[in-house]
Amino acid sequence: MTDPILQTTDLTKEFGNLVAVDDVNLEVEQGEFRSLIGPNGAGKTTTFNLLTGALRPTHGTVTFNGEDVTGLPPHQRVRRGLGRSFQITNVFSGLTVRENVRLAAQAAREGGFKPVEEFLQRATSFDDVNEHTDRVLDRSGLLGRGDEPADVLAYGDKRRLEIAIVLATDPDMVLLDEPTAGMSAEETRATMDLIDEVLSDRTLLLIEHDIDLVMRVSDRITVLHRGAVLAEGTPDAVSEDPDVREAYFGGVEA
Ligand SMILES: Nc1ncnc2c1ncn2[C@@H]1O[C@H](COP(=O)(O)OP(=O)(O)OP(=O)(O)O)[C@@H](O)[C@H]1O
Ligand SMILES: [Mg+2]
Repeated sequence: MTDPILQTTDLTKEFGNLVAVDDVNLEVEQGEFRSLIGPNGAGKTTTFNLLTGALRPTHGTVTFNGEDVTGLPPHQRVRRGLGRSFQITNVFSGLTVRENVRLAAQAAREGGFKPVEEFLQRATSFDDVNEHTDRVLDRSGLLGRGDEPADVLAYGDKRRLEIAIVLATDPDMVLLDEPTAGMSAEETRATMDLIDEVLSDRTLLLIEHDIDLVMRVSDRITVLHRGAVLAEGTPDAVSEDPDVREAYFGGVEA
């Protein structure tokens, strides 16, 4: 087994007296499709915020690609290959599809201190970003829509653009917080097919309430309950776990 791409040790977040994330030890393998499930308020989104750097843990660590990133701000985690979830992604409606993707590609590559040499090579790196942008548009099925304003896109193409923006940052791992929230069954299926098609070579960590969907797409599932890991394993193992059945499937929420 290879080293995990993402690892947390005793990850904990307290809000006053509430322990929202309670000593969570996660290990996600390279290329894995992991889902994080649990009832409302279980601590799923808070866990994501600790992983992306939007929140600092009360204690515990986050290791990504072998590096302790616990103290790093979000943009530095993105530059190291930890892709943001859709909910954080911003589609700029005043820009074209291509401009949106290029902005994400540039933001992920630049930022911070730039040496003079890089400044002088700007024309080259500009071509480089443009090429990368076209590749991402092509892969996301949006090459023909590049010059359209993002806000006139049809629903399905908007989803494609959101995925293209994540892909433009060239992430090794992508965190998805309820990407299908509010969608019809058909839209959900189309979005998951798209994620599968465009992001299947990456490591994915998905928060999702639709249990049937989670069972179908995940390699492994982690169940959170009151901030702590209640169970973890393959879809079959998790769905047969008596603790899970009681706390989750039989409990608070469908
Ligand atoms: N910024 C905050 N300040 C105080 N309490 C918070 C904050 N963010 C989350 N909480 C609390 O922490 C707990 C975990 O919330 P979180 O949003 O992580 O749950 P979740 O599993 O994502 O739930 P849902 O399925 O409803 O999205 C909840 O009790 C929530 O009210
Ligand atoms: Mg949430």
